[in-house]
Amino acid sequence: MHTIGVIGCGRIARGAHFPALSNLEDVRIKYACDLILSKAEEVKETYPAIENITADYKEVLSDPEVEAVFILTPNYAHYTLTMEALKAGKHVFCEKPITVNYALSKEMAEEAKKQGKMLNIGVCNRYHASVELLQKMNAEGKFGKLYHVNAAFRACRSIPGLGGPFTTKAQSGGGVLIDWGVHYLDLILYILGNPGLKTVSCSAYSEMAKDVKSYKFDGMWAQETADFENGTFDVDDYIVGHVRTEGASISFNGAWAQNLDIDERYIDFLGDKGGARLSYCGQVHLFDGETLTPTDTDHECPDFYTLEDKNFLQSIETGVKDKNNIDNVLESALLLDLLYQSAEKQEEIKL
Ligand SMILES: NC(=O)c1ccc[n+]([C@@H]2O[C@H](COP(=O)([O-])OP(=O)(O)OC[C@H]3O[C@@H](n4cnc5c(N)ncnc54)[C@H](O)[C@@H]3O)[C@@H](O)[C@H]2O)c1
Repeated sequence: MHTIGVIGCGRIARGAHFPALSNLEDVRIKYACDLILSKAEEVKETYPAIENITADYKEVLSDPEVEAVFILTPNYAHYTLTMEALKAGKHVFCEKPITVNYALSKEMAEEAKKQGKMLNIGVCNRYHASVELLQKMNAEGKFGKLYHVNAAFRACRSIPGLGGPFTTKAQSGGGVLIDWGVHYLDLILYILGNPGLKTVSCSAYSEMAKDVKSYKFDGMWAQETADFENGTFDVDDYIVGHVRTEGASISFNGAWAQNLDIDERYIDFLGDKGGARLSYCGQVHLFDGETLTPTDTDHECPDFYTLEDKNFLQSIETGVKDKNNIDNVLESALLLDLLYQSAEKQEEIKL
């Protein structure tokens, strides 16, 4: 039996991790914790087996019965809570992105190593069979020479919680790149097998909500965290980048908002023998360049969150690090950091 505490009872906690964790037979949820106690109360109403609610995370960390904590707070709190939890002797599952920058992410990895604890990150898409298929096909050379990967993650209107933590750089670390791009770049590096980075170039734009009050939208996720009156918007809502690696080059563009009523979410893999389009959270369209034959997979969409929570707990039992262990996610955190540095300096970074 694993005794756990959940810190942060917001959208991802309620929509993903509480449903997953409460279905696992060997999990005892001793605490639901949120700074806003009413959010923890609401969760307990839905999941009465939760034993305690609290607004003070220190109560969770000081309980010797708690073996592991799930940190499901906004990005800026990931670092402090994870470091304190590791020092208190807890294993940690922390939502993506690791935290707001690479330097702090590295410290978190070092602390986990020092304390001998598991620290997993919520890069949930790695559990999709489509992703595993592409990773295997690339490792087996099925695409021939894989020379370029291109990703698009663009929506017409999808700025979350405008004016709140999502759009305030000091709290989020960035905008569409760190929030959505983290998944795409993480998948690309995972599928490519983390090729060494050679050059990184990026441009970032904050145009669509620079005047918070006049942003036009017909729906907003995380709207309960928005602050239209006094809020901040100092992050990227459009991003474009190019990366040279020791293997394939990578290009991408992403939009939280754009004046085009087009939503695109995919990653294209281009090889000299074959290619593939991975639809985000979905299927793979394969093209064999020798026979000129297309094939589409029909993988069922997995329950990402149950898989990542289960694998985290299994890692604690076996001592074997899962693919979502922070050690296997640091490369994409480094790439995000370099991309933001390039955008800030408005120049290419050579490594
Ligand atoms: N894996 C995914 O696809 C995915 C999807 C959505 C969100 N996320 C990540 O999950 C995290 C949370 O996002 P969200 O949308 O649930 O945010 P949210 O704002 O809805 O919820 C965060 C909660 O954390 C609480 N909190 C903040 N600091 C705290 C502290 N010190 N102690 C206790 N509670 C605290 C807040 O009060 C809030 O209720 C973010 O890092 C986000 O990037 C991941």
